[in-house]
Amino acid sequence: MANNQGESGLTSKDYYFDSYAHFGIHEEMLKDEVRTLSYRASIYNNKHLFQDKIVLDVGCGTGILSMFAAKSGAKHVYGIDMSNIIIQARKIVDDNGLTDKITLIQGKMEDVKLPVDKVDIIISEWMGYFLLYESMLDTVLVARDKYLAPGGMIFPDKATMYIAAIEDGDYKEEKIDYWDNVYGFDYSSIKSLAIKEPLVDTVDARAVVTTPCAFREIDILTVQKSDLTFTVPFKITAARDDYVHAFISWFDIGFTHCHKPVHFSTGPHAKYTHWKQTVFYTPEAITVKNGETIEGVLSCSPNGINPRDLDIVIDYSFNGNHGSIKEHCEFKM
Ligand SMILES: C[S@@+](CC[C@H](N)C(=O)[O-])C[C@H]1O[C@@H](n2cnc3c(N)ncnc32)[C@H](O)[C@@H]1O
Repeated sequence: MANNQGESGLTSKDYYFDSYAHFGIHEEMLKDEVRTLSYRASIYNNKHLFQDKIVLDVGCGTGILSMFAAKSGAKHVYGIDMSNIIIQARKIVDDNGLTDKITLIQGKMEDVKLPVDKVDIIISEWMGYFLLYESMLDTVLVARDKYLAPGGMIFPDKATMYIAAIEDGDYKEEKIDYWDNVYGFDYSSIKSLAIKEPLVDTVDARAVVTTPCAFREIDILTVQKSDLTFTVPFKITAARDDYVHAFISWFDIGFTHCHKPVHFSTGPHAKYTHWKQTVFYTPEAITVKNGETIEGVLSCSPNGINPRDLDIVIDYSFNGNHGSIKEHCEFKM
């Protein structure tokens, strides 16, 4: 959710917690009803799970998830946030009469010492663009390994990442090919930068040309930090004759401890969320016929200099009626 680049060339590392200090970013998250109502349903509709439990809210922001848990019968909720938004969260919790149920602690989750040894449930909204941008899942894993009691639960507990390919000729021309000729000047040096930056944008479901491929499933209860650096194969099949200009990725989230599991999707076929989809333009268009396949390998790793950023590599090959393509594409987000 945090922006990746501040002014003056400062990196997201410097700005990360500042970016969460203003209420504006929280407004966008709170108003994302797919997001917030899924969390609320998973907590309110499962009072039997929250009743008398000790709950830890990792990255509590304005305190919304802490308040859901308190209202759902939790014995006590600890909300941790490094950002100054926690000053507002304290007021909000107080204004809603929940100070005896919720303790808010300002600090980095990695450094905070909770007043309890173990918690029964961890709740957290940690997902970034392309799921893993911001690397906040690392923080949840630290909290899990330090504080979650044996048999404890994490909300949400499942995430699945998908890839598909889209027709996007007009927008690619506007965003990428634009740099070939700017008022008669050759700006193609910027084109080579622009194509390396995945675009976070809303993709029309009608633009999707292929089947989706679930390339990564993450179980939050068991995943290790090292699993978040990965290289995985994918295979997608054209569902019509068309041109492919980009790959897109999105993720689905599951709260499977619930009496009736709660899920939401950030895909192009689902209702809008502030995560939108992540678009990776290919250097050349691929002419696909219905039934033809694109096979590839996707690698994802935290950037060596700023681990909140991601290095993503997509290698793919296509052998179709209208030609063969083999590409190696490097992206940074
Ligand atoms: C995506 S927001 C979610 C806020 C709130 N839970 C909600 O659902 O509206 C993530 C929050 O986690 C906080 N955060 C991220 N990493 C953290 C860390 N390592 N320690 C403490 N807080 C962190 C950020 O400051 C931010 O307020």
